[in-house]
Amino acid sequence: DVPGKPPSNEQAVNHVQEHSSGATAPENLEPTLSITVVGASGDLAKKKIFPALFALYYEGCLPKNFTVFGYARTKMNDEELREIISRTLTCRIDKRENCDDKMEQFLNRCFYHSGMYDSEDDFAALDKKLKEKEAGKLPNRLFYLSIPPNVFVDVVRCASLRASSETGWTRVIVEKPFGRDSESSGELTRCFKQYLTEDQIFRIDHYLGKELVENLSVLRFSNLVFEPLWSRNYIRNVQFIFSEDFGTEGRGGYFDNYGIIRDIMQNHLLQILALFAMETPVSLDGEDIRNEKVKVLRSMRPIQLENVIVGQYKGHSKGGKSYPGYTDDPTVPKGSLTPTFAAAALFIDNARWDGVPFLMKAGKALHTKRAEIRVQFRHVPGNLYRKNFGTDLDKATNELVLRVQPDEAIYLKINNKVPGLGMRLDRSDLNLLYRARYTKEIPDAYERLLLDAIEGERRLFIRSDELDSAWALFTPLLKELEVQKIAPELYPYGSRGPVGAHYLAAKHNVRWG
Ligand code: NDP
Ligand code: BG6
Repeated sequence: DVPGKPPSNEQAVNHVQEHSSGATAPENLEPTLSITVVGASGDLAKKKIFPALFALYYEGCLPKNFTVFGYARTKMNDEELREIISRTLTCRIDKRENCDDKMEQFLNRCFYHSGMYDSEDDFAALDKKLKEKEAGKLPNRLFYLSIPPNVFVDVVRCASLRASSETGWTRVIVEKPFGRDSESSGELTRCFKQYLTEDQIFRIDHYLGKELVENLSVLRFSNLVFEPLWSRNYIRNVQFIFSEDFGTEGRGGYFDNYGIIRDIMQNHLLQILALFAMETPVSLDGEDIRNEKVKVLRSMRPIQLENVIVGQYKGHSKGGKSYPGYTDDPTVPKGSLTPTFAAAALFIDNARWDGVPFLMKAGKALHTKRAEIRVQFRHVPGNLYRKNFGTDLDKATNELVLRVQPDEAIYLKINNKVPGLGMRLDRSDLNLLYRARYTKEIPDAYERLLLDAIEGERRLFIRSDELDSAWALFTPLLKELEVQKIAPELYPYGSRGPVGAHYLAAKHNVRWG
């Protein structure tokens, strides 16, 4: 499959043969794709999934024959769903040529079915409606579970028993969280596998669909200049930073049961770390890449409590405006110890990375919104220009930054001679700013991931052994934090986070970038 291109009929038929329920596919039928968004009345569906589907349609990436079904308990008809979708199609496409026409065509392919998540009969009724649309074609079905995790298993059971494709493929995209710890995640996987094969499960981590994260492998493996430096020999430390300049507003109820370590570190940041640190895969095949990522995760040293600091934001007033603290949210229990900020030092005990601190920092309600990978290199041995940097040689080391968002960029901090007769050095950037270099807008992560799921490309989805390894790394730490009732260090809303993060970095000879 060529990413970015709609699958040909032949490819679709191949997928059918790989993943069908066993019935023989009539090979001369034209394929059709039915996408069911379960939880269609929810926030994620409106904000991300429908706009991404529309963007794929606009770009000509959806197959010729397709329909989109919304499914949720909320009572509404097709027109009402279309009305909701059209209001929220505020995606990157909406200022483009022919957008209105395309939107109308897209909306005409959208339908709604109201049902309970645990009712086989309701899914059988959905199946009937799907069949009407699929008549005379070879049906492939994609279910997107955009629902809270407590109903994941019910939906998988009902959908696979009563609404899976009889002759084509059936795939299920599952949103996070995949459990709260090793045990619950293992149980979820076990339940899923009663109804689905691993090949049918597409566990989404939308950070893997971000342009700069995808580019990480291209940067490493298709340029000569980076890979030779990519080890303990030249890299002093690596930082994975996630920060949001808003709190858990509106999602406090969900968040309090999970906290920032489960929400961001165990998945988004750890996935990036695995891609960053993996050995060269045998090929670009999804299984080869995921094999290498698992090896990294399995080589990681257990996380020590003394290498972690946790924080929670408190209310703060600034410029006549007041910002609420985390526990001011009525859906958050008073006295909650759930961290909204965490920083941790992790280590990979293998030959390439022995002794290199991998620092993670993730927080909500901080002073800025950004996601970055920062690679700090070692000092130049016997630097001839040492005296030009005074005592602060740290400032003289190179740093490679991949700014995942906002304003995607890759830049390398270098030392440079300030033009002139004297010999003065300063720090400059070799800068690849995406918006200056590329005119085409960057697709949303959900577009890439939906397209991959449609094409059966699993590279950017989490395999169950990856998930197990990720939980095996974080579960003991999460248990320790909970059993010991570690109180998070409070930090004001909109600040740079707890000072403890700086002590943690200093302990490992690191300065946050
Ligand atoms: P919502 O809380 O909006 O739930 C989606 C739909 O599920 C609701 O519209 C509702 O539909 C139904 N629902 C809500 N609560 C329950 C319940 N207790 N029992 C049964 N059904 C319920 O979730 P989101 O859309 O925000 O998120 C969906 C999934 O995606 C979740 O797993 C979430 O963790 C994950 N996610 C969300 C992100 C976001 O930005 N929102 C980001 C990343 C992941 P109805 O009542 O009509 O049946
Ligand atoms: C989600 C988290 O997975 O990612 C949210 O549950 C977070 O808490 C979101 O806000 C951030 O995603 P993005 O793409 O906006 O950086």
